[in-house]
Amino acid sequence: MRLLDLIEKKKNGQELTQEEIKFIIEGYTNGVIPDYQMSAFLMAVFFQSMSITEISYLTDAMIQSGEVYDLSAINGFKVDKHSSGGVGDKVSLIYAPLVASFGLKVAKMSGRGLGQTGGTIDKLESFPGFKVEIPFAEFVRIVNKTNISIIAQSSNIVPADKKIYALRDVTATVNSIPLIAASIMCKKIATGSDGIVLDVKCGNGAFMKSISEAKQLAEIMVGIGKHFDKKIAAEITNMNQPLGRAIGNAIEIYEVVKTLQGEGPDDLNYIVCESAALSLCQAKLFPDFDSAFKACQDKLHNSPEPLTYFKNFIQEQGGDLSLISDLSSLDQILKVKNKVEIKAKETGFVEIIDTNALGLLSVRLGAGRNTKEEAIDHHAGIYLNKKTGEFVNEGEVVMTLYTNRYITEPVYEWAESTFKITDKKPKDYELVYEVIQ
Ligand code: URA
Repeated sequence: MRLLDLIEKKKNGQELTQEEIKFIIEGYTNGVIPDYQMSAFLMAVFFQSMSITEISYLTDAMIQSGEVYDLSAINGFKVDKHSSGGVGDKVSLIYAPLVASFGLKVAKMSGRGLGQTGGTIDKLESFPGFKVEIPFAEFVRIVNKTNISIIAQSSNIVPADKKIYALRDVTATVNSIPLIAASIMCKKIATGSDGIVLDVKCGNGAFMKSISEAKQLAEIMVGIGKHFDKKIAAEITNMNQPLGRAIGNAIEIYEVVKTLQGEGPDDLNYIVCESAALSLCQAKLFPDFDSAFKACQDKLHNSPEPLTYFKNFIQEQGGDLSLISDLSSLDQILKVKNKVEIKAKETGFVEIIDTNALGLLSVRLGAGRNTKEEAIDHHAGIYLNKKTGEFVNEGEVVMTLYTNRYITEPVYEWAESTFKITDKKPKDYELVYEVIQ
């Protein structure tokens, strides 16, 4: 078999066999296939797409490229939740302690920030000392003790994804439905949970811009999950503005803790409870979605348990909780050199129009990376004092930027370009478009 022939075949829109896909994934993971040929293959997939059968062969080949976790030493129903990537998306960090407080086990591998989107691992590293790379036995011990452990992608699990993802990132082939579906699902299957909830983000801050694209991606991933005998649900949720008000790392941890104390913003509360309720139903702890959803809301608002589970897990993984010992003000937590308020130039209703640019602005402030090697500033970020549909008076603060970097005039223009102020209240913001089970 020659990769050149397989590139040609895909370029002409023909379907590849299981053997051919295995040959490509094995060859690239082992370093036999060079980057330039793999790049050409990925671009051919980008333009010609793949059939459902090819995507399941691709997922399978990626799973086989490394170890598969055996979570049988963890007692109870194991759940995982994954977002396709959003701005201000801190749902996993609230979802995990919430479902843990109902007795579910969260054994989760998470990613770092990518492009405009933040990453759970970067947010967790806001806690000094928090360990994201731990041996498998320790991972199992922590889940059994605290019901939660969240770790970074290890090089033993789906190494093919790690390598292909890095190549996609620099060859403009991230935005491909078959490649995203296989990349997400190989990790979910290889880490061995019983139930999976996928949050497919859709809108101007997400990789999927339209509902139809997001639905296609969600249906493919649910199909793959079922093929591997997993309980799986995918929610398609709105990413036309950030989730909650905080964008960054420590600033998002602040909002996570507030939400765990029952003082979170409505949109964040809603998506957290929706995701958690789907997992609780998969574990058959509730007879129907509505009762599970209500129980989640009650817990978040009336019980100290979710916050206790969160703190226990952070401490067990080595994190220093002093970051959240005083939540009286954001200034107290972030302690940055520069705090800049972006004020409304007129009176009216705020409408966020470019969530992608807001995510990239947080990167510019230091909260994310431009290259894989770049260090991030966990204390940089953005707080949205106003969001879509909220009224603002001229001179009032719309958003606050926190950074240790110099702020130049273009940064003000950048921040101002992400929203507009209108006379008419924007239409109600639909949070969840659809749930596919
Ligand atoms: N998240 C992933 O894990 N992979 C993708 O391709 C996109 C988002």
